[in-house]
Amino acid sequence: MQIQENISLKPYNTFGIDVYAKHFVAFSSTEQLQELLSNSPVAFRPSRLMILGGGSNILFTKDFDGLVLKNELRGIEMIKEDDLYYYVKAGAGENWHRFVMYCIDKNFAGLENLSLIPGCTGASPMQNIGAYGVEIKDVFESLEAWHIQSKKIVQFSVNDCEFGYRESIFKRKYKAEFIILNITYRLRKQPFYNTSYGAIEQELEKMKVSELSIKAISQAVINIRSSKLPDPAVIGNAGSFFKNPEIPVSKFDELKKVYPNIPGYPVNEEKIKIAAGWMIEQCGWKGYRQGDAGVHAKQALVLVNYGNAKGKEIYELSGKIIESVQSKFGITLEREVNVI
Ligand code: FAD
Ligand code: EPU
Repeated sequence: MQIQENISLKPYNTFGIDVYAKHFVAFSSTEQLQELLSNSPVAFRPSRLMILGGGSNILFTKDFDGLVLKNELRGIEMIKEDDLYYYVKAGAGENWHRFVMYCIDKNFAGLENLSLIPGCTGASPMQNIGAYGVEIKDVFESLEAWHIQSKKIVQFSVNDCEFGYRESIFKRKYKAEFIILNITYRLRKQPFYNTSYGAIEQELEKMKVSELSIKAISQAVINIRSSKLPDPAVIGNAGSFFKNPEIPVSKFDELKKVYPNIPGYPVNEEKIKIAAGWMIEQCGWKGYRQGDAGVHAKQALVLVNYGNAKGKEIYELSGKIIESVQSKFGITLEREVNVI
């Protein structure tokens, strides 16, 4: 385990932004992490530490003047079961999609709608990742995390994590305080098929699936995603750049009078979630490109790097998009990607 100096982070972020980390090290056991944070002079300033998984939800706008800790904690283990569930623990550095495929193979149900999301398991509770009607909070049992300041391992239950839409306590109150080490997921023995997201039903029909299974749902999700989301190996991106805003029903009703086709999904009795991608498209940004920074031609919520865009260029483009959506719809978009 050697701390390297002046390392390009281009291979470590899916936007493919070429910035440098002053120091960089990968760790693959809790003992290594402990040793690093206890004995290494470059790790003494917690404000200068950054934990990196797959780098698929990050936009680097400048070099990182600190120590990047690349999480490579591995291991998948079924730790217990009861009548209804399998409890499966995964090291935070496990690749998310490979973990989902492992569970589907074993018939552990609950993750199928979350197929093909890039990144590692460690960030899954951080962001409360979600897709096609399912979020991590629905399958989450507990996690263990290293508290950087006190050097202690702390256990978190679902309530402790304060999950919200792409939110958790680790993004807010405990920002940069913990390193997530492992997560235990609660997976069903009897599947509960969630095909409520319209496109899944359509895709299953297209696939001519006669008997529903978690494998079929996973494949439907993979097909839908592959048809509209850019593959980071081909075009740099970090998925949805903005969150879908949640607005009061009264504001939605007003907008609907002017834009009858505006897509909205009830969150509760007071709030409606509206599709930011639709608003961005209405503002004329879909397929826009300036230099190597752009807006994906098939999904306007995804900003892309066609090759050598700087993080700042992508960030500036996101600012222009926020301004134009604000001026057309009176709604302020919030960035979903972590900007560094
Ligand atoms: P990173 O980008 O490495 O890190 C993200 C944040 O979490 C950083 O702040 C980092 O410091 C922190 N972090 C990472 N690991 C740890 C840890 N072990 N302990 C503490 N903090 C940590 N997201 C969705 O929710 N739904 C989608 O459908 C979806 N689709 C996507 C499609 C594409 C093509 C892409 C590129 C991204 C998509 N994303 C989606 C976003 C992204 O894949 C997820 O947010 C993913 O969970 C990020 O994982 P990561 O390991 O790459 O995290
Ligand atoms: N839409 C447009 N134009 C566009 C893009 C979308 O009109 O260019 C409309 C679609 O027609 C549809 C609606 O917007 O009516 C929703 O689009 P889509 O199903 O593609 O999903 P999304 O709201 O854009 C969200 C998540 C995704 C997740 C999908 C599927 C957020 C910020 N994004 O996207 O998550 O995969 O739903 O559940 O919530 C991510 O977080 O990185 C991510 C990709």
